[in-house]
Amino acid sequence: MYQCRPLVIASLRLYSTKAAHIKQTRDRIIRVDHAGELGADRIYAGQMAVLGKTSVGPVIQHMWDQEKEHKAKFEELVPKYRVRPTVLLPIWNVAGFALGAGTALLGREAAMACTVAVESVITDHYNSQLRELINLGEEENKELIEVIKKFRDDEMDHHDTGLANDAEQAPAYTVLSNVIKTGCKAAVWLSERI
Ligand SMILES: [Fe+2]
Ligand SMILES: [Fe+2]
Repeated sequence: MYQCRPLVIASLRLYSTKAAHIKQTRDRIIRVDHAGELGADRIYAGQMAVLGKTSVGPVIQHMWDQEKEHKAKFEELVPKYRVRPTVLLPIWNVAGFALGAGTALLGREAAMACTVAVESVITDHYNSQLRELINLGEEENKELIEVIKKFRDDEMDHHDTGLANDAEQAPAYTVLSNVIKTGCKAAVWLSERI
């Protein structure tokens, strides 16, 4: 009977290490996605402030409405999973709006180029989170996997909407797109950590 004890202790340790790893991964994922969806909401708010009354207004409004749903979902998941939000939220709040309004001021095509760049980074980001969560345990992470899959599909639609609305006609499209993508990746990196 006593010979079993080390084995029991070892299995308990293994179990608690796995549980801690799952908790850490979920925390990181929810923290960064919450920040990202807040940023996305602000980007579309900035675009609407400039282009809301033009022909692309309804197109942007539709994407914005979906971002509001995404943001609301993560605002629900943060307390539910007891996650500490990133301290950078106030920065993403301002930076998101500035990015949306700033590109919109360059024109409708630049606003769409911004959408394509942001959404392509976010789609890749969601896909890699899905792979990670599935590897970690599909059953234990069912809720998060379903939420992220749905949002990934919405972001893919936003990306395609941007392309269909002449994103590639934006002035200096490649440069603009690369600058925005690099900024988004940096924001993701930071929001996962602080
Ligand atoms: Fe979103
Ligand atoms: Fe989106």
